[in-house]
Order: sequence, then structure tokens, then C-alpha cells
Amino acid sequence: MTSLIIDTDPGVDDAFAIALACASPEVDLLAVTTVFGNVPLESTTRNALRLLALCGREDVPVARGAARPLVYPRVQEAEYAHGSDGLSGRAHTLPDPSRDVVGLDAVALMAQILRDAAAPVTIVPIGPLTNIALLLAAHPSLHAKIERLVIMGGGLSGGNTTATAEFNLWSDPEAAHRVLVEERVPTVLVPIDLTFACRVDRAWLSRLVAAGPLGATLAGLTDDYVAHYTKFFGYECTILHDAIAVAEAIRPGLLRTKTYPVEVDSTFGPGRGTLIADRREPDIIATFGAKQARALDIALETDVDEVRAFLLERLATG
Ligand code: BDR
Ligand code: CA
Repeated sequence: MTSLIIDTDPGVDDAFAIALACASPEVDLLAVTTVFGNVPLESTTRNALRLLALCGREDVPVARGAARPLVYPRVQEAEYAHGSDGLSGRAHTLPDPSRDVVGLDAVALMAQILRDAAAPVTIVPIGPLTNIALLLAAHPSLHAKIERLVIMGGGLSGGNTTATAEFNLWSDPEAAHRVLVEERVPTVLVPIDLTFACRVDRAWLSRLVAAGPLGATLAGLTDDYVAHYTKFFGYECTILHDAIAVAEAIRPGLLRTKTYPVEVDSTFGPGRGTLIADRREPDIIATFGAKQARALDIALETDVDEVRAFLLERLATG
């Protein structure tokens, strides 16, 4: 059994990620915590509650987290990809939640769960890293209760929000710097290099629709999102970034990692929010006497067809 907390900003691909966790019998989903990101916090929180209602998991506590980045305001959301409500304008097609968020905020709930946990817990951050930076900063004594962080974010060969920065890191570079560079909690980073490679096409979505009501409802949330990626790739497809991270959390080793020293650019130049992975040979790095940066496991390879089949098989059970 994998005990899991998902920290999220739903978001179409976040919706698939939450549904994947709910549809996986080996997952004990302890909480869903929300953060600003694809759309403002009120919408991401409402979407998380609706998605858990869709999955029949209103027993899973939902806590509201950060409404803005740690230090500096952010200039833009991601409505261009996820639609005005974060779910392609289709959030209203999901069941109305019959409950509200819990009385604790996201960081307090995560801390309470970690404190009470008999065994370490996996946290899957799939939005801006604000809540996670706050958790790690405020509760160093709980780091040992985190099995690992499986984080969706970053890009080694380019960005999706600026030329070099990926959306989740770009949304709060100071938080990303704290989590990815300053801390030492075991972490796997799932960057867009790999999530792009795992993109799914119209035939995959059609199989999902045919599989049953959960699949059909999820696919119904993808119109704006598919349109965005279709423009980008020139054929009908979409990218389930966050679900790939949850898949790794459920099946450790599904994604193959390489370990590189990393930095996150939190300056105000054109590279703000960029993940910089040093892919030079270690002895070359040593030659130049660079300071020892944090070595991070970054998922760069997988059996793409196996990942697509795994997602389909799980989401088809709902
Ligand atoms: C990430 O940004 C968001 O738009 C997605 O939900 C995903 O978490 C991809 O860059
Ligand atoms: Ca997300």
C-alpha cells in the first residue's frame, strides 16, 4: 500500500492524476491539498472537491493552500490551456460536492498527517511548489516522515511557459528553489521532457470514452486542453503531465531517472523559473571548482506505451 498526499491545482491533467490515484487499489489517498496555479485558488479548490465527488471519494480530506507565490506576485495563469474554470469550461459537468474543505490549511493538514503516520508518506506535488516549500521550511522534524516527493515540474530542454521555464516552477521560482535545491528530502522530478513524450492521441481518448462513465467524464474535460496541444503539435493530442507523476508514485521505477546537480533560476532575467540541470560529467564539473549543487533524480526515460496502457487500464475501471 502506498500512502499518498496530492498537492494540486486542477487543471485538466491534475483531474486525470487525482482520478488515477482514486482508481488505484494499492493507494491509500490520505489528502488532497490545493494551491493556486492553472486558475485561482478558489477554482482549483472547488475543482478538487468536485473531482473527488466524481471518483466517489468524498472521504478524502481536502485542504486549501496558498493563493499566491511565496514572495513575488505572478503575472499570468494557464487559462489558455485549461479553460476559464481550469477544466475546459466543463467543471459544471462534475457532481456538486456534498462537503467543504477541512478546517486546517494545506500545510497544517499535511503536517498533521505526517506526524500521525505510522510509516512514511509519499507526497505528489503537481502544481506550484508553494505549499511544499512552506511545509518543509516550517516542519524540518517531519522530513523523515516523507517517503519521497514525486514532483511534476521543470524542463531540461526548454520550457512551456517561457522559452526555458516550465509552468509549475515558473509560477513560484522561490518555492521551487527551496524544495528542489535547498532541501534534501528524497525527490523524483518528472519534467516536461518526459511528459511530452508520453502524450496521448485521439485514439487513446476514444478508448477512454468507450471504457466507461469515469473515462467519458474525464475525456469530456479535455476540449480546450486538447485544442491547446493540437495547435502545438499539429495533430490531435494531449499531455497528461501530472498523471505521469502519480503513475510513478504508484509504481516506483515505472520512470527511469538520471541524477544531476540542479539549480532553479530565481533571478529576474529571462530565465526566471528555469530548472538548470548540470549534465556535464562529474569530473568536468569538479575541474571548474563549482560549488556542490543538490543532486536530484530526474525522470527522463520510460516505456511510453506501458505508461499509456497503465493510465488507460486504471482509468477504465471507474
Ligand atoms: C504543469 O503545468 C500545469 O499547467 C499542469 O497542470 C502541470 O502541472 C505542466 O507544465
Ligand atoms: Ca498541475
